[in-house]
Amino acid sequence: MILDPRALPTSDVYRFLISAVVPRPIAFVSSIGADGGMNLAPFSYFNAVSSEPPLVTIAINDRDGDPKDTLRNIRETKEFVVNVVSEPLLDAMVSTAGDWPRGTSEFGPAGLTPAPSTRVRPPYVAESPLQLECTLHREVALGNSILVVGEVILARVRDDVLTEGKVDAAKLAPIGRLGGEFYAPLGTILKRKRPRVSRVTGEEQG
Ligand SMILES: Cc1cc2nc3c(=O)[nH]c(=O)nc-3n(C[C@H](O)[C@H](O)[C@H](O)COP(=O)(O)O)c2cc1C
Repeated sequence: MILDPRALPTSDVYRFLISAVVPRPIAFVSSIGADGGMNLAPFSYFNAVSSEPPLVTIAINDRDGDPKDTLRNIRETKEFVVNVVSEPLLDAMVSTAGDWPRGTSEFGPAGLTPAPSTRVRPPYVAESPLQLECTLHREVALGNSILVVGEVILARVRDDVLTEGKVDAAKLAPIGRLGGEFYAPLGTILKRKRPRVSRVTGEEQG
């Protein structure tokens, strides 16, 4: 099959892309508006892009100039929290992705608990095993998305997902997003050593 994105409706391109780039991590983003109203929503156009400073990105569809509550809140307060979606949080996470009216806190209906963050005003999800407290680094308009770049100013990790002080993916048990309405847990974890090669001679260094 050959696809030419320029010959397809945007909705088909979207459906194709999200089934081709899989699995994607999910940022479960908590934010608050200038009025203090809480918001919670998932975003799988999500990744880490820099470690000095630590930067993460979330791409939020611009919905023809009607910003999603998360984007509106981030613009108002310049802060947000990324909560990792572990397996037990799958259904609660999906329930927050309805088009709830602005001002609805998705915490209550999802059965999730807002807990006070350390460095930012938006609360974190108490049931999530790992959170990244972020300040807005910059916003970049990209196609029909707004790329929100956040600087991680504090990370909180529940002790039971650590092994010898490091985040243990098997214990973290994150859920990945696939195409359509499909999600996937980690499955078998494989370990491989990367080749150590001299950039000068190209020789392997054992
Ligand atoms: C697993 C999942 C991932 C999603 N990823 C994105 C995304 O990357 N970008 C986006 O704009 N919407 C994404 N959505 C849709 C938003 O979560 C949805 O529009 C939500 O209602 C936005 O909430 P808000 O208006 O409270 O910010 C995703 C939905 C789900 C269920």
